[in-house]
Amino acid sequence: MTHFLDINTTSPEDLRAIIDSAKAMKSARQGQPKGALDADKPLDGRMVALIFEKPSTRTRVSFDVGVRQMGGQTMVLSGTDMQLGHGETIADTARVLSRYVDMIMIRTFEEQTLLEMAEYASVPVINGLTNRTHPCQIMADIQTFEEHRGSIAGKKVVWSGDGNNVCASFIHAAGQFGFDLTFTGPEKLDPETVFIEEARAKGVTIDIERDPIKAVEGADLVVTDTWVSMHDPASARERRHNLLHKYQVNERLMAAAKPDALFMHCLPAHREDEATSAVMDGPNSVIFDEAENRLHAQKAIMRHCLGA
Ligand code: CP
Ligand code: NVA
Repeated sequence: MTHFLDINTTSPEDLRAIIDSAKAMKSARQGQPKGALDADKPLDGRMVALIFEKPSTRTRVSFDVGVRQMGGQTMVLSGTDMQLGHGETIADTARVLSRYVDMIMIRTFEEQTLLEMAEYASVPVINGLTNRTHPCQIMADIQTFEEHRGSIAGKKVVWSGDGNNVCASFIHAAGQFGFDLTFTGPEKLDPETVFIEEARAKGVTIDIERDPIKAVEGADLVVTDTWVSMHDPASARERRHNLLHKYQVNERLMAAAKPDALFMHCLPAHREDEATSAVMDGPNSVIFDEAENRLHAQKAIMRHCLGA
């Protein structure tokens, strides 16, 4: 039994195998209707619980469709409807669910909830986003980069904006896949130092550059995300906008990167805030490939977890 909790807690060999398997499964389905079963039905007879304590479009639909394509069944559970949201402990929830289902995917607030679920579950647990990280997203993003530009090793990725959960998983990925990452954003919203130090210890360059135009020089990939995450209080919106507006990804910023630099955003986006529509819908944007690859990458993650 293998959990998928974070990119830094999954070995580089396993990460590589997951990406390769995602690509192979994607190409094997070319031209098939979305609801068609994969020929080998690797999740035949398996039941997967998908728990959401926060809203979701991509994670919810891509996990649900992915399990069904592989021949398994799903149940989508909202945290507030479960006893979990009314005082039952995470440990008891994990032990009970393990008697009914073969795997658990959870999107939650505190990382501790995910870790406790994994500690007490006797089935694999997958991180579908916490306040701190979003590893499934970054697996899809690595797959997407490789499909467009080949290996990401040695490339320069620039994160512009909030040093949030998605940024943290990108920094994890820098260490594991061997690429350099420059963070450009306000000091108050820097990623946690522990992420930066851990990646640096793996031999990659993680830089912080306050000037976004300087930061994107030589960039192969420019990435951003919402300025106000689901766990941020709505009251922080104005302060965050004031801090972050300088880091908007617009055509001027993209023009300072390499001419073939890709643009990524995990979505959902607030168009004209963190990125302009001109960039999001521009020739170097791969935002919808990222969204599609959530499906393929997560199918590979689920097979990895179940050894299926
Ligand atoms: N990118 C992402 O995780 O999207 P959802 O919040 O729609 O799942
Ligand atoms: N940083 C965002 C990502 C959403 C997929 C959030 O946590 O709300």
